[in-house]
Amino acid sequence: MFKSPNQTKTMSRPSTLLVLAMVLGSGIAQAEKGSGYYGYGQVATPEQIAGWDIDVRPDGLGLPEGSGTAEEGEWIYEEKCAACHGSFGEGVDGYPSLAGGEGTLSGDGRPHKTIGSYWNYTSTVFDYINRAMPYTAPRSLEPDEVYSLTAYLLFMNYIIDDETFELNQDTLSTVRLPNEPNFIPDERPDTDNTRCMSECRDAAAIEIKSQASPSLAEELAAAQGGDSETAAESSPAVATVGKSVYDQSCMLCHGSGLAGAPKVGDIDQWQARTAAGMTTLYKHAIEGYQGDAGVMPAKGGFMNLSDDDVKAAVDYMVQESQ
Ligand code: HEC
Ligand code: HEC
Repeated sequence: MFKSPNQTKTMSRPSTLLVLAMVLGSGIAQAEKGSGYYGYGQVATPEQIAGWDIDVRPDGLGLPEGSGTAEEGEWIYEEKCAACHGSFGEGVDGYPSLAGGEGTLSGDGRPHKTIGSYWNYTSTVFDYINRAMPYTAPRSLEPDEVYSLTAYLLFMNYIIDDETFELNQDTLSTVRLPNEPNFIPDERPDTDNTRCMSECRDAAAIEIKSQASPSLAEELAAAQGGDSETAAESSPAVATVGKSVYDQSCMLCHGSGLAGAPKVGDIDQWQARTAAGMTTLYKHAIEGYQGDAGVMPAKGGFMNLSDDDVKAAVDYMVQESQ
């Protein structure tokens, strides 16, 4: 355990010795029989790992052996689930409903999100029940029960119509949920920060602000000693804000031309638009509008952005498309 020359040397320092004594005192029994990398702890056995490794993927990988039908699931559901979720999946006393809501995601009213109207994969239904339900006794269900309950919920949502359809390791991934195609890969990067290596700002002066904070552009401009109104186009700070807002909130559509959005970099497409004047572009980007090509949602759907953030993004997009 203490073989490296460095460690032997530091061991002679009293404070280190004290810490070591504490560690050894509490851990020596394990350390002696320890088989882990650092000489203590134990390598988890396959059985122990199997206890945690219960996730199920959309292609069915990870499903346990077993099977069940909606017919069987109905009884289990009545006994173990209906008290909270209602006999028809309608939800009781504020507990979530498990069925209904078809077509409410695109309407004007409040979306009613359920397995049938919103969820993406059948494997998510299986995994959720298997992992977390019933609420008061998670992990208490046998695989056959989870298959049966999943089948019953699919039946309740009119996704399968045969009560005797057998859900098992092979058939589960063949049942697709109606809303699956509306889940799309989100190309926005997790972060586009580049590390500052020289002449960086004082770390102590950097604060983390809530989304309700005043415009990022204004703050950055102020921090650089400028005035955001006049700095708008030329300041490097605003250029950075524009790119950052664009990357996070606009690129999803404008990077690829998704949903009819004019693609950034496509000079022809943007020439006609900039001809209408920047004021119109700003207004359309901030307030949203329905054009010939599609719908531009107000602020791209990111209502937490300030008007100045959106303007900076528009500036950036126009600049990249000239
Ligand atoms: C004691 C009340 C209770 C019981 C009994 C119960 N649930 Fe739940 N269920 C909940 C609560 C509360 C949530 C929401 C949990 C959350 O959002 O963290 C939930 C969520 C769910 C969801 C996800 C719903 C959604 O759209 O987000 C499913 C699916 C589900 N339960 C299935 C079941 C099944 C199947 C059973 C029976 C084996 C069951 N539940 C039993 C309380 C209960
Ligand atoms: C969900 C997709 C989507 C997102 C996200 C999105 N846009 Fe758009 N945007 C569109 C579509 C579609 C159009 C074209 C509408 C038309 O002219 O038919 C458009 C058009 C525009 C235009 C041209 C306006 C005009 O008058 O011609 C600007 C400027 C613009 N968007 C800025 C932004 C900014 C800034 C963001 C990010 C804050 C953003 N968009 C995010 C879909 C999107």
